[in-house]
Amino acid sequence: MSYIKDSFEIVNGAISKDVCRLTSRALIMAKDITLHSSNLKENDFPCRDDMVDNSFSRYSPLVLDSLSDTLVKDVVEQVVGEKVIPTYTHCRLYYNGAVMYRHVDRSSSEISASLCLSIDKDHDWPLMMEDKKKQTISVNQNPGDIIVYDGNELAHWREPYEGKLQVNAFFFYVKENGDRTKLKYDTRPMLGLGPEDRKYQPDEQFKLFPVKDK
Ligand SMILES: [Fe+2]
Repeated sequence: MSYIKDSFEIVNGAISKDVCRLTSRALIMAKDITLHSSNLKENDFPCRDDMVDNSFSRYSPLVLDSLSDTLVKDVVEQVVGEKVIPTYTHCRLYYNGAVMYRHVDRSSSEISASLCLSIDKDHDWPLMMEDKKKQTISVNQNPGDIIVYDGNELAHWREPYEGKLQVNAFFFYVKENGDRTKLKYDTRPMLGLGPEDRKYQPDEQFKLFPVKDK
């Protein structure tokens, strides 16, 4: 399959195991710091998001925004065959029982890339997608594997997770020569800032660049 023809492409071993190990450690540390400073326990899931229960998530951690502007951007540009601009990143630590509801990504996600950072080796946990022919496909990932897909076109989801912990990172881009350059850095003044620094929040971005629910 190819991104140009199928709107998605899998690049196995796109990012080195060492970089995945380091990044995964940084994200788990961010989770531990959050639990420590909020006096909450892992099972309280203080930073789950609307999309997934039983998870810890964070908007644009520094380590991911750095990757989005360097190593991952190189891979994405190679796959899509044109220059791209980072918008935002996101991470999730998925715990047993996590389910990701079927959705398409928001307006700042003209191109999406999902990088697997660490897995529970006893439990494969595929990303499910509906391809352009309306067929359901299932993609398993090992650390370092990236799925690049059109986040606004292809609906995707995950069935209930039976493993202990899987860590994934998500990188979102708009095309440098496309019509969404206004969404550069997710409308933040620079990478690394939090969601409160966006000029346009997601609902305002949606009005500017509507995305069809699928
Ligand atoms: Fe998504």
